[in-house]
Amino acid sequence: MKVLVTAASHHGATIEVADAIARHLTSDGFEVVRKSPEEVDSLDGFDAVICGSAVYMTQWLPEAHDFMERFAQQLHKLPVWAFSVGMNGVPKHVPQDPSRIGPVLTRVDAKELRSFAGRYDPSILSLRERAIVRLAGAVEGDFRDWNAIDQWAESIAQQLKQD
Ligand SMILES: Cc1cc2nc3c(=O)[nH]c(=O)nc-3n(C[C@H](O)[C@H](O)[C@H](O)COP(=O)(O)O)c2cc1C
Repeated sequence: MKVLVTAASHHGATIEVADAIARHLTSDGFEVVRKSPEEVDSLDGFDAVICGSAVYMTQWLPEAHDFMERFAQQLHKLPVWAFSVGMNGVPKHVPQDPSRIGPVLTRVDAKELRSFAGRYDPSILSLRERAIVRLAGAVEGDFRDWNAIDQWAESIAQQLKQD
């Protein structure tokens, strides 16, 4: 069974989440293709798609939006899992409404949209980005929960094996 794992990221945290999901599925025996959304030019031959994006200003990144738009018809017929990586769920961070990123998925009937906490490392951000994040009240740190990410990958593997 061939699975595409694709994710859009500005500063690498989401890439590492996608890589962890891909590694898990590979070790479970799936044939996994890891590509960035803009690199994907066809979904032919894929049996399932996992698409993620970092959340910036309450939105998925344009590359992930574009991927969902370009392949909306095919994605409609495939099992799709979506994930967001952001500061939602991080203590003290002002909660965002997860439905704000919903429109990107409306044309795609995703089996699940999962949100994972991300990373806020001011040293890798531009001055402008740092100012925005500080205003949003984000707390510095790497909040990615690798166990939760692994468990999610495993739940996808189990569902695919049942299909
Ligand atoms: C300028 C800026 C805006 C952000 N806006 C949001 C937001 O609206 N909602 C959210 O949950 N996280 C937000 N974040 C947090 C990022 O989603 C988080 O740092 C994530 O780990 C970034 O992933 P990446 O390293 O893959 O780009 C923002 C971060 C920055 C720098």
